[in-house]
Amino acid sequence: MVIIDNKTELSHLVDQYRQKGKIIGFVPTMGALHEGHLSLVKKSKELTDITICSIFVNPTQFNDKADLELYPRMPEKDAYMLEKEGCGVLFLPEVSQIYPEEDKRVFDFGNLERILDGTSRPGHFNGVAQVVSILFGIVKPDKAFFGEKDYQQLLIIKELNNLLQLKVEVIGCPILRESDGLAMSSRNMLLSDEERKAASLIPNLMQEAKRLKQQGKTIPEVKQFVSQQLGSNPIYKLDYYEICNATTLSPLNSLNNSGKSISLIAVFVGKIRLIDNLALD
Ligand code: PAJ
Repeated sequence: MVIIDNKTELSHLVDQYRQKGKIIGFVPTMGALHEGHLSLVKKSKELTDITICSIFVNPTQFNDKADLELYPRMPEKDAYMLEKEGCGVLFLPEVSQIYPEEDKRVFDFGNLERILDGTSRPGHFNGVAQVVSILFGIVKPDKAFFGEKDYQQLLIIKELNNLLQLKVEVIGCPILRESDGLAMSSRNMLLSDEERKAASLIPNLMQEAKRLKQQGKTIPEVKQFVSQQLGSNPIYKLDYYEICNATTLSPLNSLNNSGKSISLIAVFVGKIRLIDNLALD
């Protein structure tokens, strides 16, 4: 595996691959890698000739500076895991490589960003769009792989790709979970033992809520159930639980809404904010 920290060098290398007719796959990450990230690398290896992974903790997508500081960083371990997985190139840039000057671009994703993490983390998706558009510009991948774990982010990136006509094939990949059902996340390692145990309620609660909806409970009843369950233990603080149209993310308020639906949750367990989602159809 080649490790590169310079964007010009990476662009040149990618040009060489492209001249040889290779299909380029790209997996952008913020590091502290786990099997969820590696599943994207696996998918890319399956569908492309060269897999490029980036690790960059993007400051512009953190609206909370403490969260940015707390974000786990372990580039050596990550590089080892990627090499073992058969990743071709690791891009490990410094902030100055990505943002030689301040990125002042403001994107408009319409209703997609006016809900859920869009309102809970103001500016977050704008920062994600900034970094992904810059990374896509450097790598110019044929296909890019993103997890459904960050479902709203996946929809935003598809929209970004359309807005900027980047012509990248954006491929969504399923959520990988721990044995107790908790969605894998770099943030899980920040949980204390007690919080980690408590966090397993999140996927169970989402499944239970899905069952209730299938049994004919109304959406307000299902939402009330989720908030009551979490409210019974002060270790949790529910940020949101919503049932939305899976394409537009418009919240559904009755059982008669058409189209596929998805439930999405954000919960603080202690100080750590975890997100998850579950398709309801
Ligand atoms: P990060 O949180 O490191 O995630 C990188 C990619 O891995 C994202 O596409 C995310 O959805 C995916 N992923 C994380 N956990 C997963 C899981 N349990 N199962 C499947 N896929 C999972 O998301 C980001 O970084 C950043 O916002 C980024 C897109 C890199 C822009 O900075």
